[in-house]
Amino acid sequence: MKAVHESTLDLPLLRKGKVREMYDLGEHILLVASDRISAFDCILPQPIPRKGAVLTQISQFWFDRTEGIVQSHSVSADPDVIIEHRPELAASREDWAGRGMLVRKAEPFPVECVVRGYLAGSMWKEYQESGSLAGEEMPEGMVESDQLQSPIFSPATKAEEGHDENITFARMERVVGMNVADLLRSLSQNLYEFARDFARERGIIIADTKFEFGSAVSGEILLIDEALTPDSSRFWPESEYEPGRSQPSLDKQPVRDYLEGLVQEGTWDRSPPAPDLPDEVVQATTERYLEAFRRITGHELPDY
Ligand SMILES: Nc1ncnc2c1ncn2[C@@H]1O[C@H](COP(=O)(O)OP(=O)(O)O)[C@@H](O)[C@H]1O
Ligand SMILES: [Mg+2]
Repeated sequence: MKAVHESTLDLPLLRKGKVREMYDLGEHILLVASDRISAFDCILPQPIPRKGAVLTQISQFWFDRTEGIVQSHSVSADPDVIIEHRPELAASREDWAGRGMLVRKAEPFPVECVVRGYLAGSMWKEYQESGSLAGEEMPEGMVESDQLQSPIFSPATKAEEGHDENITFARMERVVGMNVADLLRSLSQNLYEFARDFARERGIIIADTKFEFGSAVSGEILLIDEALTPDSSRFWPESEYEPGRSQPSLDKQPVRDYLEGLVQEGTWDRSPPAPDLPDEVVQATTERYLEAFRRITGHELPDY
C-alpha cells in the first residue's frame, strides 16, 4: 500500500479536514484517513506509510468494544463489507481499503469532548498559572504528567485553524443544551475510563483523549469521527512513564526527536514549512504506529 498525502477519489468531496477526506454518499460518508502527520503545529512534507490505516482500524477496534456505552457512526472499516453496502466503491477499492470507513452521516455537535486523566498540555499550563483545572481548584504540588485523582472533562470548541479553545461546561450547556451536555460528558467519561483501563494492561497510558458526537437523521446520538487513536489522544509508553517531566510519545517521538535536533543545531526555527524527514525517521514512525496498533488490538495490521 503506498503512502498517501491526500486521497483524491472520483466521488463528491463533502469536506477535507486536517487528516481526513470525507466523500458524500448520501446517507453515508466514506471517511478516508490520509497518512499526513503534523508535529509542532506543522504538516510535514512526507506522509507516514500505513498511518491512515492504523488510525481507521484502531477506531473501529474501539467502536466494536464500546457499543454498550454508545453506538458509533461506523457501518464498517472492512473493505469487503463496505463494498457489499456500496458496490459503487469497488472500482476505487485500492485507493481507500484499510484507511477508509463507511459511516452514517451525522450532524456533528460543535464541541470537542476532551477527557484528561493526566496533567499534560494546556491543562498543565493552566495548573502552573492558576492552580486550577478547567476552573476547578486542584491540590497543590502536582507535577507535570501526574495522574489526576479522577479524570476531568474539559470541552473545547473546534477551531478550523490553530488551537482549539477550552471552554467552560456552562458554555457547552449554552451551545448544545443542558441535557445533551450532561449526556456527552458522561458518555465521554465512560469511554475514556474503559479505554484507559484496557490500554493500561497493554502497556499504554492514554493520558487524555478527544471525542466527537453527532446526531443521526434518526435523532440518535452517535460517537463519530475517529476515537481513541494516537492522533486524538496522548499515548505514552508505560515503561517510560515518569511524572515530573513531559513524556515521550508512543507514536510521534521519532519525528519530534529529529525536528528537535534541527532546532538545536539551528537549521530550523519551528516556523512552517517543516523540513523534509529522512527515510529512517519515516520508517521508525511507521513502526511506532504499527506497534500502537499491535499492542492495543493484540494482532498485526492486515495488508489491504
Ligand atoms: N459521521 C459523521 N458525520 C458527519 N461528519 C463527520 C462524521 N464523522 C466525522 N465527521 C467530521 O469529519 C471530519 C474528520 O476529518 P478530520 O481530518 O479529522 O477533521 P479535523 O481537521 O476537523 O480534525 C471532522 O470535521 C468531523 O467532525
Ligand atoms: Mg480530526
